[in-house]
Amino acid sequence: MAEKLTRRRYMLTAVSALGASAKAFAGTVGGKKPALLGGKPVRSQPFPTWPVFDSSEEKALNTVLWSGRWFRGRGKQVDRFEAAYAKLIGTKHCLATANGTSALFTSLSALGVGPGDEVILPPYTFVACVNVILLCHAVPVFVDTDRETFQIDAGKIEAAITDRTRAIMPVHLGGNTFDVDAVLAIARKHKLAVVEDSCQAHMAEWKGRRTGSFGTTGCFSFQASKNLNSGEGGALLTDDDELAERAYTFHNNSRGKVRHSYDFSYSYRGTNVRMTEFQAALLMAQMKRLEAQTGRRSENGAYLTSLLREIPGIAPAREYEGCTRNAYHLYMFRYDKDRFAGLPRAKFLKALAAEGVPASKGYSPLNKEPFIKETLQSRGYRVIYPERELAEWEERTACPENDRLCTEAVWLTQNMLLGPRSDMDQIAEAIRKIQAHAAELVKA
Ligand SMILES: Cc1ncc(COP(=O)(O)O)c(C=O)c1O
Repeated sequence: MAEKLTRRRYMLTAVSALGASAKAFAGTVGGKKPALLGGKPVRSQPFPTWPVFDSSEEKALNTVLWSGRWFRGRGKQVDRFEAAYAKLIGTKHCLATANGTSALFTSLSALGVGPGDEVILPPYTFVACVNVILLCHAVPVFVDTDRETFQIDAGKIEAAITDRTRAIMPVHLGGNTFDVDAVLAIARKHKLAVVEDSCQAHMAEWKGRRTGSFGTTGCFSFQASKNLNSGEGGALLTDDDELAERAYTFHNNSRGKVRHSYDFSYSYRGTNVRMTEFQAALLMAQMKRLEAQTGRRSENGAYLTSLLREIPGIAPAREYEGCTRNAYHLYMFRYDKDRFAGLPRAKFLKALAAEGVPASKGYSPLNKEPFIKETLQSRGYRVIYPERELAEWEERTACPENDRLCTEAVWLTQNMLLGPRSDMDQIAEAIRKIQAHAAELVKA
């Protein structure tokens, strides 16, 4: 029996013939009502949950539990994890820490960053980055963001360097990479340390080499949301023997790498930010899944970009040429409401959630957080730094591009990239559907 050529089928055939995705087209012009206006959501099933674990994690944790060796001075798990992670990232040393914040803090402390110093960082990042600088009584100097990539604008770093600058703390934001070559060249020229924040970029690569291996130190977080997860956890990586020893001593309350628990000799100021044996055991089990999960995210992320860049008003974060692997801790794009009939971002996010695609607006401008200015005006800072320098700080660290990015950004979380490719089709379909009905959504 000859198939009846419905209008819908005719349209799909025509679009296929033009080389576009018929499925995608059907989603856009299908006339389906947005879920926020009472229509059927694009997705009814949840995205893959996080964390992923099975009996191997249970076994690893039980092994530590029943050994009674819960502290790194007694057990072998942390040592094993450090050796495995250094090998994975490609550095000589790895120091496991309590979390990513303490890996950054230990880096700055071991490098001797202190009162009177300045550290350069991006404003589009997690608050821990600025906190660790302030905890060292140094001044954070924000350098504006490259809106297209969501990363620090390396072209603006040199202008921010002064006699006080001791280190640059660039961040591989969202699993995408900053311009490693450009940042390293500036650091070399000005003899500055680089604390490479790779807390969101496990297994990301620049020209085939893993991030976290480029800086004077590289820092990772294994906090619950991260692509490698032990609830809390962190690591500091370095090729520098002396720095590795200073970092160990700092993180172990002033005690160096000695095995005797009653050796109370101290060589350097410190704190206690040691990783527990439980965290390390969990990480060893989680690491077995890391390569496969990273591969899946990278594939889905690239595919999603190929779909979203065709939607007017949606600009997926661009990668620098040297980025050979985006680890997609976040899938980030810019949303231009003018291409969505003026639909405000907050309402776009609401409409997206109603379609079964949860998303968030991401960071607000870190450089404008009032607590930073308050800290810089505190008694201690006023003793250390000239009044004029502190007064000029706000103007000096203004980041207009970043301010704009913070009004446009949309984030999807890494677990959303762990499912089948069809999940990406549905994300794109949900956005197209919202765009097709944007004017109605504005009025609703
Ligand atoms: C870029 C960045 N740096 C540092 C940290 C701090 O890591 P943690 O939460 O493990 O202390 C995080 C965590 O979210 C981060 O995203």
